[in-house]
Amino acid sequence: MSQQQSLQVELGDRSYPIHVGDLGVQAPEKLAQLLQPLIPGQQVAVITNETVAPLYLQGVLDALGQRQVDVYQLPDGEAYKTLESFEAVTTFLLNARHNRSTCLIALGGGVVGDLCGFVAATFQRGVDFVQIPTTLLAQVDSSVGGKTAVNHPAGKNMIGAFYQPKAVLADTAVLTTLPDREYAAGLAEVIKYGVIDDVAFFDWLEANVPALLERSSDALQHVILRSCASKAKVVSEDERESGRRAILNFGHTFGHAIEKLAGYGQWLHGEAVAIGMVMAAELSIAHTGFPSVDARRLRQLLEQLGLPVSLGQHDLKVEDMIEAMGMDKKVSDGRLKFVLARSLGDVIVSDDVGLGLLRELLNEQMA
Ligand SMILES: NC(=O)c1ccc[n+]([C@@H]2O[C@H](COP(=O)([O-])OP(=O)(O)OC[C@H]3O[C@@H](n4cnc5c(N)ncnc54)[C@H](O)[C@@H]3O)[C@@H](O)[C@H]2O)c1
Repeated sequence: MSQQQSLQVELGDRSYPIHVGDLGVQAPEKLAQLLQPLIPGQQVAVITNETVAPLYLQGVLDALGQRQVDVYQLPDGEAYKTLESFEAVTTFLLNARHNRSTCLIALGGGVVGDLCGFVAATFQRGVDFVQIPTTLLAQVDSSVGGKTAVNHPAGKNMIGAFYQPKAVLADTAVLTTLPDREYAAGLAEVIKYGVIDDVAFFDWLEANVPALLERSSDALQHVILRSCASKAKVVSEDERESGRRAILNFGHTFGHAIEKLAGYGQWLHGEAVAIGMVMAAELSIAHTGFPSVDARRLRQLLEQLGLPVSLGQHDLKVEDMIEAMGMDKKVSDGRLKFVLARSLGDVIVSDDVGLGLLRELLNEQMA
């Protein structure tokens, strides 16, 4: 496979490229060729965190050339995706006299990307930003699509904006340092694209488990491109999630409830989504006639890639799950919406799943 491939997210005058491959985050001359043309002005601020900075910040700084470059390092963790961090970054930019022509660079996982994107959306009514995602989840999901946010004590991602980056630079080389659990969590979202949009990709994932476990750069480049192509297609059709974009939430209605009830931090987001996808597949068997052989294939692929497929030992209660799902923000007109599979690669959004069926399924799955 070539060293770098690109695809375009088509959103009219807000369209942008996603570059994928060995982009040179650790080889500044190479990275400079991509990065420099994206930043016409003289000011840049890199927003990163204390884990990613020692690994990849220097390469990015070296690629930026002779500009005013300021760096804000967040502490690591979801706990810092807050309004307080948002304010701290904004104050930092103001103190460093950044103006409307500045460009922000998000260097990190989804937490850094979501926060930096939200600052970019609001700083002086909006400035350019570039995503350099460093987790697999961020490369295949959070950096693409323009959802930016911070959390509120009342709920995750409750304050945010739709705001598209100027470009996404997904460097496969940075994934070598990602902890195993984080890597597998990203693969859960990858598998999701196979289920919701691309059965040929699902087949490919099944056939390439060893390369994926080895984090082969060719395999990763393929995975990121196919995942981003699916996400870009869905986002181009429905940027603000008024309809079709909801299919990206396959497994997430269950997953969010699991994350919330188990306590944030117990399961990684991707792990909860993996368990949620198994539940959604079982619900699909009962509601849409999704073939049980395909549900088994999904479960097996998740397991092979190191993901959980059930809650294991737990003290969650079925009624609490139902309530947590009811509280989920994907509720429309008081009816629960589920993304259900009809076959691999083909899903629908259904709002007529009865409570009885849901309770029966959860009793079975949470036993
Ligand atoms: N905007 C969206 O559309 C969207 C979609 C999905 C998820 N999200 C958000 O993304 C966030 C989760 O993102 P995440 O899974 O990337 O988590 P994260 O940003 O917390 O990163 C996970 C961990 O990996 C570390 N890390 C990052 N890159 C590394 C590297 N290359 N090597 C070693 N360690 C590295 C981070 O410091 C962190 O400890 C959540 O806040 C979620 O709400 C947003």
